[in-house]
Amino acid sequence: MAMSHPEFASRVLWRRTSDPEADDLTLLDIVERGRRARYLREDDRRRFTLGVVLAKREIAERTGLRPKDVVLDRTCPGCGAPHGRPLYPGWHLSVSHSGGLVGLAIADVPVGLDVEERGRSLADLADAILAGEPEGDLHVYWTRKEALLKATGDGLKVPMTEVEVTGASAPPALLRWKGRPDLPARTVLRDLDPAPGYAGALAFIRP
Ligand SMILES: CC(C)(COP(=O)(O)OP(=O)(O)OC[C@H]1O[C@@H](n2cnc3c(N)ncnc32)[C@H](O)[C@@H]1OP(=O)(O)O)[C@@H](O)C(=O)NCCC(=O)NCCS
Repeated sequence: MAMSHPEFASRVLWRRTSDPEADDLTLLDIVERGRRARYLREDDRRRFTLGVVLAKREIAERTGLRPKDVVLDRTCPGCGAPHGRPLYPGWHLSVSHSGGLVGLAIADVPVGLDVEERGRSLADLADAILAGEPEGDLHVYWTRKEALLKATGDGLKVPMTEVEVTGASAPPALLRWKGRPDLPARTVLRDLDPAPGYAGALAFIRP
């Protein structure tokens, strides 16, 4: 499954965790094999592997390298451990997993992808998700905000309550980001429909 987004040379690819590629370790380097081995659950190992495989294949296609020669940098800016978002010179990548789905987004500007399985109610998290927005589809609020937080690289270090977005009844848009008045004008936000039973969103930050 692939969706092209011509803006920012972007593409989003999806895989199911049942995909046999989730068992293929040949593209993982030693650091990635170590990360994979530390996951206790087989599902998490499969999700992680697919994220690596999708990222390396996509970079290979755009650079002419062989996928196994693509080296991703995952250095966490917070602590230096290799668990941050994958980086490759000249390209921006974002990985997201939920339930049986793994997604990868690539773009020539910072990009954030989020997918959430709709099976779990988010009602008990409403106070942590909403920044005063009207009640609405919490999965849409969650994915729009997490895609934005991943595009900036902040992740959940920045509370979702500091980021105000439109709700499901309106086109996706960032309305306000506490302390970052420049961001709404520089942000492009899209809803995705990755598969039945999942919500998804994609965010780009213009330079
Ligand atoms: C990024 C984050 C929101 C993702 O949450 P999640 O529930 O695991 O959701 P997803 O499946 O959508 O995303 C996972 C992917 O996000 C990416 N990621 C990790 N940190 C990221 C960040 N700061 N910004 C953007 N993406 C990030 C990784 O690629 C990861 O997948 P991978 O490890 O398999 O490659 C969350 O992990 C987070 O907030 N991390 C940063 C917190 C932080 O910096 N802590 C300091 C650690 S020392």
